[in-house]
Amino acid sequence: MSTPALLSPLQIGPLTARNRLWLPPMCMYSAQEHDGVATDWHVLHYGTRAVGGFGTVIVEATAVTPEGRLSEFDLGLWDDAQIEGHRRIVAAIHDGGALAGVQLGHGGRKAGTPPWRPDAAGARAGTLQGWDLVAPSAIAYPSEGHAVPRELDEAGIARLVEAFAQAARRAAAAGYDLIEIHGAHGYLLHEFLSPLSNTRSDAFGGDESGRRRFPLQVVAAVRHAIDDAGSSAGTIDGAEAGAPRALGIRLSATDWAEGGLTGQDTARFAVELAAAGVDAIHVSTGGNVPGTVPVGPGYQVPYAAQARAALAASVADGGPGAGVIVVAVGVIDSAAQAEAILTAGDADAIAAGRPALRDPYLPVRWAHELGVNDWREAGLPVQYWRGAWR
Ligand SMILES: Cc1cc2nc3c(=O)[nH]c(=O)nc-3n(C[C@H](O)[C@H](O)[C@H](O)COP(=O)(O)O)c2cc1C
Repeated sequence: MSTPALLSPLQIGPLTARNRLWLPPMCMYSAQEHDGVATDWHVLHYGTRAVGGFGTVIVEATAVTPEGRLSEFDLGLWDDAQIEGHRRIVAAIHDGGALAGVQLGHGGRKAGTPPWRPDAAGARAGTLQGWDLVAPSAIAYPSEGHAVPRELDEAGIARLVEAFAQAARRAAAAGYDLIEIHGAHGYLLHEFLSPLSNTRSDAFGGDESGRRRFPLQVVAAVRHAIDDAGSSAGTIDGAEAGAPRALGIRLSATDWAEGGLTGQDTARFAVELAAAGVDAIHVSTGGNVPGTVPVGPGYQVPYAAQARAALAASVADGGPGAGVIVVAVGVIDSAAQAEAILTAGDADAIAAGRPALRDPYLPVRWAHELGVNDWREAGLPVQYWRGAWR
């Protein structure tokens, strides 16, 4: 029997994952001391998903500044003191046989909300009192309780570019293989990209190229930071410095709203990102306008396919995009569905989030469902090999 596409190795920039399943970033809101420091919960949670067979595990949205956190309980990488906790997460993920990625983000006008946990008082009630909100324009997220952000000036923008670079340097020091920049879900980078939240008239707003300026500056700064870490000899704070690293970005392909970003805008942007040195594009949607996303089985897959087709067309024309992978996500919750998306050529990899909250061993189970019996060859935990047989 030939290996199912889902269980075949995946090249991500300079790295190879054992299969094409990604754990997408999912906030655990478990930095209990409000200091952005990882806890045992994170180590266990991510390590378990690696043991469960994911090829690539992306750690949740991790803030590049304290004000950029989505809640007080978010992880951070704005301080060297936060590196050690991430190093423990990385070790647990590597022990489980997966590549370790981390999503670096800033919440922009949607920062500083209570955590989306049912045990949090006032969950989803808008901006916390006194939070210093920044955004491309002084326009509140159009939902109850969200405060009006301060419009960033050019010095503030430059500081944030540097904050992303410094957080990436720390992520490299923690040993992460892949850095995913959060450019989706109505957070800061997406706010710059979307004409619905960016009404600036300076170099960082206006037409498509102006709205892309800040996100592309972040991409360039992060690429530089991780390449720099990869080329320096010896160790950075004890982590292997010379290791090659991959760069990804998560995008909301469409705003699902009149006048907002469209799949075509994003497909064109994917080619520009490829030219800027991005290795992986993780295609989500929505988040900048409340209540418009038509969630359903595979609802975001056509946007991944559109970006992948634009990259292929660019390569065929001699342009950038060679080797850049596209990850599909969103209500992909059966092995057959995931396999069909890959064999149709709609994406190079599949991320499954909520299914993995229900079942940390999802990849092992899906491998079994797809008839994979040789778990050693598939790179799955050999300790569980008897699970492959009825
Ligand atoms: C608990 C939870 C936390 C999430 N946190 C993040 C996050 O930190 N960053 C992000 O880009 N998306 C986040 N998401 C979105 C998921 O990564 C994923 O895109 C979404 O759940 C759809 O995929 P699924 O249907 O496989 O769950 C989160 C989703 C859930 C359920």
